[in-house]
Amino acid sequence: MGSSKMIKLGFVGFGTVGQSTFIALERNLYQIKQQMGYELEVVSVAVKDLEKKRVVELSGVRLTDDPFEVVLDPNVDIVVELIGGTEIAHELVSAAIANGKHVVTANKALIANFGDEILLSAQNENILFRFEAAVAGSIPIIKALSESVRGNRIKAVVGIINGTCNFMLSEMAAKQVSFVSILSEAQRLGYAEADPSFDVMGTDAGHKLAILSAIAFGTEFQFEKIHVEGIQNVLPEDIAYAKGLGYQVKHLAIAVKTRNGLELRVHPALIPLDHILASVDGVVNAILVDGDLSGPLMFSGAGAGGDATASAVISDIIDVASVAHTGGTRFMAVRPEKLSDYPITAFTESVSGYYVRVEAKDRPGVLAEISRVLASFNVSIEAIHQKEAKEGASTTVPIIILTGRMAEKAIREVCEILASSDSITGSAICYKVEDFQWAT
Ligand code: HSE
Repeated sequence: MGSSKMIKLGFVGFGTVGQSTFIALERNLYQIKQQMGYELEVVSVAVKDLEKKRVVELSGVRLTDDPFEVVLDPNVDIVVELIGGTEIAHELVSAAIANGKHVVTANKALIANFGDEILLSAQNENILFRFEAAVAGSIPIIKALSESVRGNRIKAVVGIINGTCNFMLSEMAAKQVSFVSILSEAQRLGYAEADPSFDVMGTDAGHKLAILSAIAFGTEFQFEKIHVEGIQNVLPEDIAYAKGLGYQVKHLAIAVKTRNGLELRVHPALIPLDHILASVDGVVNAILVDGDLSGPLMFSGAGAGGDATASAVISDIIDVASVAHTGGTRFMAVRPEKLSDYPITAFTESVSGYYVRVEAKDRPGVLAEISRVLASFNVSIEAIHQKEAKEGASTTVPIIILTGRMAEKAIREVCEILASSDSITGSAICYKVEDFQWAT
C-alpha cells in the first residue's frame, strides 16, 4: 500500500451488504477520515449483472462483471469480498492474496472450510485478512476473541448465532404455531431466504461456530467435525412443555472444552428461563464467552442486515488500512502455523441432562417402566410429568421426563428402548438441557 492518504477499495459482489457498505462509506466519510487521517475510496466494483438498476450511484467507479478484474486491479489496495459461496470466492481470495491485496470478507462458509489454508497463505504473503462480518453481523466477536480476551483460557463459547432460527423459535414459543407456518411468515418478513435450508438446518450456525471455535481455542477451522442439527423438527408443544418446566428452547452453537477434548455442536436445546440467553428473542444474536480470567462475557446485537454487516466490514477495512499504513501489529485471528491439537470429542460422548417426551398409553405401570429403563442406565430422573391427554379421542398421554446428566449415546439407547415398548407409541422426542456448567 502506498503512502498516499487515499486507500483504494475493490468490491467483489454488490448485493445488500456491498451496497449498504458503499452507502455507509459515503455517509460516514467525514467520521472515517477523522478517525483514520485519510480517506477510503471505492475504485472498482464487480457485479453479477451490469444492466441491473441499483439505488447506488456508481459514477467514477470501474464497474465490471468479471470479479478477477477487481482482484488483479493494480489500483486496488484492499479487496472487499462479498460474493459469498466457496468456489469462486476461494479462487478470488487466493488470487487477491497472491497479488498482494489485503482482504476483508463476510464469507463464513469460505473461512469455515478453507480458513487454515487462506490464513496461512495470507501470513506467508504478509497480507492482512479480516472477517469480522462473517459471524454475527455487527457484534465485534472476532475482535473480542482474538484481541480482548487474549491471555485467557477460554472455557466455552455459546451462541445464538442464527437470527432466522432464533426468530422462528421465539415466534413458535409466543404464538404456539408450527415450524411451517412461522417459516412462511419469516420469509414474508425477509428474515428467511426463499431456500431456508442453510439457516433452519443449522449449517449457517455451524459455519459460524467453526470460526468462533478456531479463534477461541486456536484450533483448525473444522466445520466438518461439528455436530449440526437444525430446528425443522421442533414442535410448539415441546416448547410449551419446556416452558412449563422452567426452560426456553433455543438453537445454540456450543464450543466447550472438556477433559476429553473440545465439544463442537449446534442443536436446539433447553436452557433455564432465568439464563441470560433465554431472553434473547427475535433475529437478535448473542454470544456468551467464558474465560478463566474474564469470567462470562455476553455480546449481543444485530446478527444480519445491510447496515449491521456493513458496520463490521467497514471496521475491518479501517483496521486493515490503519495497520498497513502505520506498520502496526499484524495480529492474526489465529496463528495458522501454531494450531493447538485438542481432539474433537464425538457428539455421542457429550454429557448433559435431557428432556424426553413420549406418547404413552394411558394405563398403569408406564411411569414405572420408564423409571426402570433409566435406572438400568444408572441415570436419575430429575422430574417426570404426565400431561392431560390431547383433545379428541386420543388414547395416549404425553409423558415428559427430565433426566440427570448422561451421555448422548446412552440417551439414544434409552429412547430406542422406550420407542420399542408396547406402552409407547411413536418415537421418543429428546433434547439436551444445557446447564452451562463446564466440567473442565
Ligand atoms: N442468515 C443468517 C441468519 C444471517 O439468519 O442469522 C447471515 O449470517
